[in-house]
Amino acid sequence: MDIKKNIESIRNDFPILSTSVNGNKLVYLDNAATSQTPNCVIDSISDYYKNLNSNIHRGVHFLSQKATEIYEETRFKFKKHLNANSTKEIIFTSGTTHSINLVANGFNNSLKAGDEIIVSSLEHHSNIVPWQMLCEKTGATMKVIPMNQEGELNLNAYEDMLSKKTKIVFVNHVSNALGTVNPIKFIIDKAHSFSAKVLIDGAQAIPHFKVDVNDLNADFYVFSAHKFCGPTGVGILYAKQSILEDFPPYQGGGEMIDEVTFEKTTYAELPNKFEPGTPNIAGVIASGIALDYINGIGLDNIKKYEDELLSYATQKLKTIKNLKIYGTSQNKTSVISFNIGDIHAYDIGSIIDNLGIAVRTGHHCAQPIMDYYKIPGTIRVSFCFYNNFDEIDKLVNALNRAVKMLS
Ligand code: ALA
Repeated sequence: MDIKKNIESIRNDFPILSTSVNGNKLVYLDNAATSQTPNCVIDSISDYYKNLNSNIHRGVHFLSQKATEIYEETRFKFKKHLNANSTKEIIFTSGTTHSINLVANGFNNSLKAGDEIIVSSLEHHSNIVPWQMLCEKTGATMKVIPMNQEGELNLNAYEDMLSKKTKIVFVNHVSNALGTVNPIKFIIDKAHSFSAKVLIDGAQAIPHFKVDVNDLNADFYVFSAHKFCGPTGVGILYAKQSILEDFPPYQGGGEMIDEVTFEKTTYAELPNKFEPGTPNIAGVIASGIALDYINGIGLDNIKKYEDELLSYATQKLKTIKNLKIYGTSQNKTSVISFNIGDIHAYDIGSIIDNLGIAVRTGHHCAQPIMDYYKIPGTIRVSFCFYNNFDEIDKLVNALNRAVKMLS
């Protein structure tokens, strides 16, 4: 689909885009925090509660069987989309954070003092804190791949820190704060040459381009539905089957068991072993509809269009005096982080919010990146395929007005 030609009809799929803020049409540029929801996804949630509501995997009745069928078909959609080998490798969670905690927990018993794990400087807190907690429990130590001014990782330093002691490497595919696309295939290959496992946080990648976990040979790839037009509260964890089979369960409860006695419990097969309790059934099914929706537009088309938006916005923003962009990697996607002179990001964010422009300000849950640049935070604009060029012009006009008011 040619997005430029169809932009108005795409925008009409998103009812929230006609919201008015103080008499101005909403310009939504906070898509890295959460993307908006098309009618088909909203309808799917409503349809579930109107026509299908029941509990899955445990009812003999019509509704339960039908809901189970659609839930499992959704798992198959994600398996196919990621090119995973089996639906046993797709675990539904409540989000990327939950998925990372589940994986970190899986290393509780195998990691020990003397082992090392490697994180990148570009991580979201959710891909730092669970691993720090793991280090506290096991005595392992964490090393950090440094970054440069452009917001790129220092790959020589990474290669130097790999050794037989390295057990896990965890890196994002795309930085939520800077938009840098990391060379994860290289990172994965190098880690594997030392038999280390690799987790990729793909939360900011999956909405913007095609990902093939088989080609990448990632051990774990995690992301959230609400970043690609799905509902909040649903995460997808891809993990290699052999690893998941060896992992202990993360949480105990119904559905993740085979047999329970007071003396001993045996666990269910994959994927159920990692899905205790009643899941977010409506949310998971709606996430599959969101996946169909973005695939209907086409991820190659999305990438091409968003690259044009990114380049147009970068050029326009550079016309603003004293505007400094953080994150200038050649390989970046859909995010621009910046400050203007020494004006506080929050002040600008608040003024342009009054004009209907939604952006995120602050440290973007990536404080180490802000520490590197010695700044408290940035203004971050982040795009989705439903944004248009006119919205970028409105952003730039609003920023110019804000600067005038504040200087
Ligand atoms: N991780 C989300 C963001 O970058 C919340 O804004």
